[in-house]
Amino acid sequence: MLIKKPEDIKSSEITDKEVFLSRRLFMRGAALAATAVGTAWVYRQFASPSQDSKIGEKITGVRSAAESASQSTSEAKTALQDITHYNNFYEFSTDKRAVASLAKNFVTRPWTIAVGGLVHKPGTFDIDALRRLYTPEERVYRHRCVEGWSMVIPWIGFPLARILDQVQPMSNARFVAFETLADANQMPNIGTKILDWPYVEGLRLDEAMHPLTILSVGLYGETLLPQNGAPLRLVVPWKYGFKGIKSIIKIHLLETMPPATWNLANSSEYGFYSNVNPNVDHPRWSQRTEQRIGESGKRETLLFNGYADQVASLYSGMDLKVNF
Ligand code: MTE
Repeated sequence: MLIKKPEDIKSSEITDKEVFLSRRLFMRGAALAATAVGTAWVYRQFASPSQDSKIGEKITGVRSAAESASQSTSEAKTALQDITHYNNFYEFSTDKRAVASLAKNFVTRPWTIAVGGLVHKPGTFDIDALRRLYTPEERVYRHRCVEGWSMVIPWIGFPLARILDQVQPMSNARFVAFETLADANQMPNIGTKILDWPYVEGLRLDEAMHPLTILSVGLYGETLLPQNGAPLRLVVPWKYGFKGIKSIIKIHLLETMPPATWNLANSSEYGFYSNVNPNVDHPRWSQRTEQRIGESGKRETLLFNGYADQVASLYSGMDLKVNF
């Protein structure tokens, strides 16, 4: 992974939120009929153009972070401008500051997510139907990138477990695989061989079912912008950021450990688990401290990114230096 440090983000780069919102992009939503195909089923809903979702629009009916307080941190949130203009999304660019403008016309409607594999009820979910089906909630999570920077992000989303419960995993399902759209017409970097496309990721089923694991549809009260993984991205707050696969089109349950993009690229540097762990160095740098974007000094990195109370039991008996 290319290492660039964030120290040089200037406060003058942080624009007023109103100015930012006035630049937001409006996308046409989908009007799709309910249908059933073979054994699979498709969950779709009619939507008139006035009900269409727009990138950067306010999401209504969100359960606040205060209501799910045990899962949200009260640490200061990172500025919206930094969250939306300092991004890793290699399909668009390896330059974190270039992603937002290169992704601004990314088409996120209509958008469906196919969920299948070892499940009793495979299905294809329309993104807007999902948002209506599962009341989104705010979760303010620490976000720690393997490169050494961190943020605090007020995500809006719903537990991944909701979808998994709905499709009913079979008893032999042990892992969940995720896949990002790979569209060379919209993603300028797909033409390069910097990574194997499509970007793929995976979790153990118990990690995927954990209540902290969410599928995010927004942040700071509004629909996700393309650079943050619109319209739907994974957030697993106790793992390094690269596990948070963006713009998901496919979720598959399987018996064996699925491939993961950075692990495929360099397995000695990026393990499958990738739990935040200050005691396990990256081969080329220490993971003991982190640069919180917007702060001057460095912070100590916490085991499991500060979520040890909730997730350490998932790994009891495992050697975390081997299963990094
Ligand atoms: N998902 C896809 N499809 N492509 C990517 O390049 N980058 C990952 C992850 N998800 C990436 C991705 C990395 S390295 C990080 S740190 C986070 O997204 C960054 O998320 P953010 O830009 O919302 O902070």
